[in-house]
Amino acid sequence: MHLEAEFYSRSEPLQSVVHFITVILKEHGWGEENEDLVMDVGCGPGKVTTKWVLPLFHDVKKIVALDYLPSMIEKATAWNAHPKVEYHVGNFEDRSTVESWKGQISKIVSIHCFNWFKNQKEGFQTAYDLLKPGGEAALYFELHSNFFTAVEEITDSEKWKSFFKGIYNYVPESNRNKYDSCHYRKIAESIGFEVLFCRSELKMNEFNSHETVKGLYYSVCALVPYVPENRREEFKDDLYECVLKQGNRNIDSIPLHAATTLELVISQFEDDPLPRGDLLYKQTCHRQSASPAAGPERPIQDAAYTSLVVIRTGILHWLSSEMHSRTEKRAEGIKIAKSSRNVSCL
Ligand SMILES: C[S@@+](CC[C@H](N)C(=O)[O-])C[C@H]1O[C@@H](n2cnc3c(N)ncnc32)[C@H](O)[C@@H]1O
Repeated sequence: MHLEAEFYSRSEPLQSVVHFITVILKEHGWGEENEDLVMDVGCGPGKVTTKWVLPLFHDVKKIVALDYLPSMIEKATAWNAHPKVEYHVGNFEDRSTVESWKGQISKIVSIHCFNWFKNQKEGFQTAYDLLKPGGEAALYFELHSNFFTAVEEITDSEKWKSFFKGIYNYVPESNRNKYDSCHYRKIAESIGFEVLFCRSELKMNEFNSHETVKGLYYSVCALVPYVPENRREEFKDDLYECVLKQGNRNIDSIPLHAATTLELVISQFEDDPLPRGDLLYKQTCHRQSASPAAGPERPIQDAAYTSLVVIRTGILHWLSSEMHSRTEKRAEGIKIAKSSRNVSCL
């Protein structure tokens, strides 16, 4: 993955990211307890960490903000320093660099990061291992988007393709393989997480100018390092042309960012007397200890896959959202039977 911190920091986070942190996480009780140690994985230049994650945890002792690019940690330290935020270079895919926090973190948050991991299951496993018993992780990332489609298009274009031979990770695996929320739910559950909220939804985010969206897309385009420096402005223009071709414009003809996003809130099991791996047994134990009379499980929220949310600055227009909350009695086995028509994940 690649990030040009200067360009990236000029724009505000997507409104759908702000909604996830300030509404969805609050609804799940985030920010109600005095946390000791919170971790932000893939903090980039630290703007989201200090402006959005930190205010959620006003009484937190410390937030460890992690990024594998030393340049990001330098920028974050210079631009977004805060006494409660400690920036560290660390690769979430290399356990040796995060081992020192094993079993100590009460909340992990990660925005726009897990989709870039080469081994995503391993990333979930690392989160599981770093969390305290009962700790929770909240992940937000894009599965597919009009931007990723534009990047794929320019990668294959006659004009530019010679620069990108042998490069495969220019868009996340989820875009190439068309993963949906079930894919990530299964990964989380196979590791032993309890899934508290799992929603994938097409979200439309608006930008206020062509310059903003052009700069933002260029700043996160993984192909940029392979383009000769003297041709980067030309590449930026061509990339934007590919974005414009995708359609989805607002009334001022500025492209909308159309992305199917995954919002996931998962919890470590509180009492975990069993070795990891025996998930079915663990789930049975958890149900029994939480509810000895085999009463209802904690409600799980899911949402229909294709609902559409248009997000304008500060205002949410729910055009068609089929959120439903349900108490799901799971039989033995990892079987998720949806009451809604859209999704089934068996
Ligand atoms: C698109 S940026 C998002 C930054 C920030 N979370 C935000 O929402 O503005 C993704 C960040 O994740 C970082 N990243 C990607 N893979 C990582 C890994 N394995 N370990 C730590 N950081 C990683 C990248 O360096 C980049 O800064």
